[in-house]
Amino acid sequence: MKKINIKINKKNYSYDLLIGTNLLNILPKKLKAISPKGQNVALVFDKKIPNSLKTKTFNVLKKFKRVKIIINPSEKTKNIGSVNTILNLLLKNNFNRNDFIINVGGGITGDMVAFTASIYKRGINFINVPTTLLAQVDSSIGGKTGVNNQFGKNLIGTFYQPKIVLIDTDYLKSLKKKEFLCGYAEILKHAIIHDKKFFNWLEKNTEKIINFESQSIVAKAISWSCKIKKYFIDRDPNEKNLRKILNFGHTIAHAIEADSNYSKNINHGEAVLIGMLLETQLSCNKKICRIETYKKIENIYSKNNIFRYLKIKFNFSNLKRIVKFMENDKKNDDNKINFILLKKIGKTTIPGEIKFQKDNLLKELNKLRNFNL
Ligand SMILES: NC(=O)c1ccc[n+]([C@@H]2O[C@H](COP(=O)([O-])OP(=O)(O)OC[C@H]3O[C@@H](n4cnc5c(N)ncnc54)[C@H](O)[C@@H]3O)[C@@H](O)[C@H]2O)c1
Repeated sequence: MKKINIKINKKNYSYDLLIGTNLLNILPKKLKAISPKGQNVALVFDKKIPNSLKTKTFNVLKKFKRVKIIINPSEKTKNIGSVNTILNLLLKNNFNRNDFIINVGGGITGDMVAFTASIYKRGINFINVPTTLLAQVDSSIGGKTGVNNQFGKNLIGTFYQPKIVLIDTDYLKSLKKKEFLCGYAEILKHAIIHDKKFFNWLEKNTEKIINFESQSIVAKAISWSCKIKKYFIDRDPNEKNLRKILNFGHTIAHAIEADSNYSKNINHGEAVLIGMLLETQLSCNKKICRIETYKKIENIYSKNNIFRYLKIKFNFSNLKRIVKFMENDKKNDDNKINFILLKKIGKTTIPGEIKFQKDNLLKELNKLRNFNL
């Protein structure tokens, strides 16, 4: 088992990410240590977790009074109505702030459960057991919580840190390849923005990760990736500056998701895979990045048939439409559209350095060329 400690607010608060296999048995002890007076546990399960694992997770906590709820996650149901359903379950069962709420699911349930935890009686103990690769390398770390509404994605939310994150690769056994690729998108992003050595390692190991060929290689990718996310979160937990670098690829990705009306045709990870290629092209067109760097990234996609597996057909004519969604992005603090662009593998521009006027951006986007994959 690997342990990574995340420190928030100049070390006033910290929590552990535990990464490994067969970790469930340590959960009861951990809960007791976190809140000795806690007696009630609410488990929120993603519907697609195999029943055997749901039962195992439920049974391991038999010393607690347990309630469970099963969520069928989608961006459409990631909303305040679902949060209210969970709140009612907690209220009906008299949960107090010593008690626990546990997410056993991917990024959608995780964001919703964390948000619920942050507002229930002004904060109840939140435990995260992420079950998708994306959630294990990204959404479970860093304390961003949130739900969507008709004005956009994750617009209602809080920063609220978990008490512990249990990253157990056993949950990944039932995950579809498409979901592996979505988690891989964030792993690759972490390497591109911060760590050339990790990128070089991914060049050799991508196939083994996306096909889940080796649990130990996947665990290594997860912990390497988590360490990079930790680097940014420790330094900027509330995303005032440095943490914005993690948004590389996401300015375009969020707009693509919004343009598709958050349909299942294109999910977050797929949009990030497109966003990273396009934002690297933008970097080359702005002459801050060499075309060889773009080709190195593109080569990972083509060598591993990433777009073909995902069946992504990105329509370049949509680029004109997505500018208006970029304007609504909550990461813009003035009228211009912020981008994190790439200088070379392992190094990006700093937040606030690159901003585009809307008209200018359209011109720049029109210069982008199709992927040669
Ligand atoms: N909070 C953050 O910092 C942060 C960061 C990145 C993304 N996000 C959010 O995360 C969400 C995407 O997360 P996601 O990709 O995990 O999506 P998700 O939660 O929808 O899970 C993807 C799919 O996998 C299924 N699933 C989950 N666990 C499974 C398992 N063990 N076996 C089989 N199937 C399983 C789900 O039912 C779903 O169909 C988005 O809403 C995004 O906004 C949040």
